[in-house]
Amino acid sequence: MSEILRLDHLSKHFSGVAATSDVSLAVPEGSICSLIGPNGAGKSTIFNLVTGYLQPSGGTISFRDRRIDGLATTRIARSGVARAFQIARPFPEISVRENVRIGALFGRDGERDVAAVTEGALELTGLVEFAVRPAGELTVGYLRRLELARAIAARPFLLLADEPCAGLNPAETEEVVGMLREVRRRGVTVLLVEHDMTAVMSVSDHVFVLDAGVLIAEGPPESVAADAKVIAAYLGTPEPP
Ligand SMILES: Nc1ncnc2c1ncn2[C@@H]1O[C@H](COP(=O)(O)OP(=O)(O)O)[C@@H](O)[C@H]1O
Ligand SMILES: [Mg+2]
Repeated sequence: MSEILRLDHLSKHFSGVAATSDVSLAVPEGSICSLIGPNGAGKSTIFNLVTGYLQPSGGTISFRDRRIDGLATTRIARSGVARAFQIARPFPEISVRENVRIGALFGRDGERDVAAVTEGALELTGLVEFAVRPAGELTVGYLRRLELARAIAARPFLLLADEPCAGLNPAETEEVVGMLREVRRRGVTVLLVEHDMTAVMSVSDHVFVLDAGVLIAEGPPESVAADAKVIAAYLGTPEPP
C-alpha cells in the first residue's frame, strides 16, 4: 500500500524546547492511524506542521509524493488535507447546514456539487435533523460532529482529527468511531489524535507513539499497547534499560 503522508526527520523547536524531535513516519493511504502520547508529547505540533500553521525547524513533510512543508495553510487545504479541531469553532449565529456548506465551498480543489457534498456530510455525521438550527445551540457532543462534518465536506484525501472523542460518553464515542470508519470506507485516510484508548485500539490500523517530541514506538495497536517503552511513557516510570 502506498503512503499518503510522510514525515522525514521532522523537527520543531520553540525557543530551545524540542516539541517535535527528528520524527520520521509514514501514513499508508486508506488507513486509519493514530498519534498518541502523554500531554505535551507533540501531537498537536505535528498537526500544526502538517497543516502549515507552523513551519518546521528541520526535516520535510510529503503529501501524495509532494513536499508541502513551507506551503501556505490554504494551499495545503486545497491539496486535500482537512483538520477537525479539538475545540469546534463554528459560526454560532448561522445554521448547522450553512456551517457545513462553508467546508464544502472551500476545501480541496476541484469540481464539486456543493449542495450534495453538504448533505452527504450532514448525513454521515447524523446532523440532518439539526441542519436548520443555529450552530450555537448544539451540545458539545454535536459540536464535535459539526467539526467532523465541516472537515468531511472539504472532501479531503487526508482527514486529521484532533481528539474527536474528548468529553464524549462511551455511546457517543462509539458513534464517532463509526463515523471515522465510514469516512475511511469512502476512501479518506484518517490520522487521529485521541486519548480514549478504547477508541484508539478499536479503530486504528497503526499507532504512532510520541513522548517528549520523539517517536518511541509504532505498530499495530496490540503490539504498541504491550511495548514496555509505551507503558513507561504513560505511567511515568523510568525507561526500561
Ligand atoms: N506555540 C508554542 N510555543 C512554545 N511552546 C509550544 C508551542 N506549542 C507547543 N509548545 C510546546 O511543545 C510541546 C508539545 O506540545 P503539543 O504539541 O501541544 O503537545 P500535545 O498535543 O501532545 O499535548 C509542549 O512542551 C508545549 O509546551
Ligand atoms: Mg494537543
